[in-house]
Amino acid sequence: MTCTKEYNTLDDFNLRDKTVILRADINCPLDKSTLKIINDSRIRSIVPTVRELIGKRAKVVILAHQSRKGKWDFIGLEQHADLLSKSLNAPVKYVDDVIGGAAKAAVKALRPGDILLLGNVRALDSESAEAGMDVHAEADLVAELAPLADLFVCDAFGAAHRSQCSLVGFPAKLPSASGRLMARELYALKTIFEDPRRPSVFIIGGAKFADVPCMIDRVMEAKMADNIILVGLAGNAFLSARGVDIGEASGKVLADELTPENFAKAREVLSKYGQHILLPVDVAVERNGRRESVSTGDMPTAEPALDIGDRSIEKFEKVILSSKTAFMSGPAGMFEKPGFEKGTKRLITAMVESGGLSVLGGGHTAGAAERFDLADRVSYVSTGGGALETFLLSEPLPAVEALIRSKEKFSRR
Ligand code: 3PG
Repeated sequence: MTCTKEYNTLDDFNLRDKTVILRADINCPLDKSTLKIINDSRIRSIVPTVRELIGKRAKVVILAHQSRKGKWDFIGLEQHADLLSKSLNAPVKYVDDVIGGAAKAAVKALRPGDILLLGNVRALDSESAEAGMDVHAEADLVAELAPLADLFVCDAFGAAHRSQCSLVGFPAKLPSASGRLMARELYALKTIFEDPRRPSVFIIGGAKFADVPCMIDRVMEAKMADNIILVGLAGNAFLSARGVDIGEASGKVLADELTPENFAKAREVLSKYGQHILLPVDVAVERNGRRESVSTGDMPTAEPALDIGDRSIEKFEKVILSSKTAFMSGPAGMFEKPGFEKGTKRLITAMVESGGLSVLGGGHTAGAAERFDLADRVSYVSTGGGALETFLLSEPLPAVEALIRSKEKFSRR
């Protein structure tokens, strides 16, 4: 695991009058019908770093993403700028451009203490490619913006598991440091997970599935968890991999995420670790405007699963209550919808009531805990979902590795 001496922090630089590119992860959950941000905890999490940078009279250029191309929640960052401005109580200028003339002119026009948020960085094709630091260092994003800056600061812990251009390209060209959030997350998680108490249960849910089968494989191989509870999309995907007919409506929701490769991987994982993988026995659907639990053997064609069902909740609560470490990444269902918060709320409550170590990961999960007034009762809430899972497996986080290499490179000069 990484220790802070390996990379620079904000303490290692004089920031006065410097132009700083700050990579943040302010990817937020949105309401599907209004496209409005429904939880801004990730935006609030970068406030200490931004406040420190402007307090020390740096000119701050923030790079960030929201979702990814092709997904319904891939939008610009104007709302993010407004919410950051409110949290900071300071103006945040937004330019809906990343490397074009408008973005570069806005960077050049910054004065000490100014904050500029550029457009969704994943609008660039170069950002979507997963490549190494040396390849990304030559990409258009870095070629256009690095010459305008003095320093790169990475505070995007939530995206630190992605080897993308805005995360690993700049450290090759600019002296770099971790932001306060990044350093705090790495330190806190290292302390918590150095010696996890047993039994340990991982609850994996949410609406992303692509990385889940590999993640489970590695968690089980590394003996990080004694049991894995799958809820949300992951629960449905594994039910399907086990041969359960999940019905047309739930199948449709899953279709984008369930490629033949990760379906095959899910089957492989089930055959290796099936006895440790706990799946829902029922799901909750909406009928006549009300929540109704339906057995997984009888999944409906017309209504998609919006939560785990009541029998599943009871089954999973028992496992969680007897655990000494419980980690949850991704909610159990559509907790924003009245009636369908039950699964997520009861599982987080069980984590708290187990009296063991409880850790939540991911923007949506943190948002759910806040909504249920449980965030303060959980041992630790991380802004990272996939990044946290990668960290737990002691696997390198490309964004952190890039900071380490950058320190080596620029201290030799
Ligand atoms: C996240 O929300 O997990 C991070 O912002 C990374 O997003 P991604 O899974 O779309 O790369």
